[in-house]
Amino acid sequence: MNAQILMDTASALVADDKGLLAMDESNSTCNQRFAKLGIPQTEKARRAWRELIVTTPGLGESISGAILYDETIRQQDKNGTPFVKVIIDAGIIPGIKVDTGAKDMAGHPGEKITEGLDGLRDRLAEYSQMGARFAKWRAVIAVGGGIPSRGCIEANAQALARYAALCQEAGLVPIVEPEVLMAGKHTLARCCEVTEECLRTVFNQLCTQRVLLDGMILKPNMVLPGLTCPRQEAVIDVANATVKCLLRAVPAAVPGIAFLSGGQSAELASARLNAMNVRFKSRLPWALAFSFARAIQQPALEIWRGEEANVPAAQHALLHRARCNRAARRGEYTAAMERRSS
Ligand code: 13P
Repeated sequence: MNAQILMDTASALVADDKGLLAMDESNSTCNQRFAKLGIPQTEKARRAWRELIVTTPGLGESISGAILYDETIRQQDKNGTPFVKVIIDAGIIPGIKVDTGAKDMAGHPGEKITEGLDGLRDRLAEYSQMGARFAKWRAVIAVGGGIPSRGCIEANAQALARYAALCQEAGLVPIVEPEVLMAGKHTLARCCEVTEECLRTVFNQLCTQRVLLDGMILKPNMVLPGLTCPRQEAVIDVANATVKCLLRAVPAAVPGIAFLSGGQSAELASARLNAMNVRFKSRLPWALAFSFARAIQQPALEIWRGEEANVPAAQHALLHRARCNRAARRGEYTAAMERRSS
């Protein structure tokens, strides 16, 4: 393991107020999003969408790294240039999702365990050869009556740590993503409690598995009330609860925390990240950044709808979200930015 390379890559992923663009939806998740908009669920359409994203002019000014899916890392643009090269030429670091999905967990109704450790060493070596410099693994933790269980939290934390150790061995920075889901009617206080327990367990396992904390990025959920909770706190309350929770559980050696968006609207995700940076940026040991999929892609996808003629307008919308989130890292995002773009 070359610690310096890992630390340099991890720092580069959160440098210059930039953040990550997650474009690593599995084929089935990508197809579900396409189906809602009447876009054909074909490899051709998925390739065209990913080409639109990676050829957006100026994307590298706000995006440090792009997370790809196995199908995408093997694809090319319409001129035959591999997407990995297009991304690198845009000044963006290529990364790859390496888990094989969250499956029903035996003996734990309503809970999931993420799979993908078998053969991972060989897959990481191949992705590294293809140009990937970091990887991602997502664990999902549902909140509800009697869940999450200790069994689910511990099994997912151990898998995350084993994945992270294998990544570092291969010279790839692991993005460690324990996602506490928004689905449900739980309160913000309950999300805070569950997120803190998950993060503590994940970091215990990362230490047990000898993962270099300086050479990883944490990708957590923000601390939010459940989607159907009657009480929905203000932006500043979410910002305060999220940072308080992270301070309790995330060691200072971690260089960056890049939030997932998790189904929040694009504008709320930017506003909440902004509020955290306005209030706390100068006092935190780690950078607070973003690693959004839906909160960057969704407005652009709704404009594109699979039509070639809509590509420039969709790229404009994608770039706008990337810029809003970079502004949010600086604590300079305002609602007026949204009005000016349209
Ligand atoms: P969302 O931002 O849409 O939650 O996706 C982030 C991600 O990469 C999920 O693994």
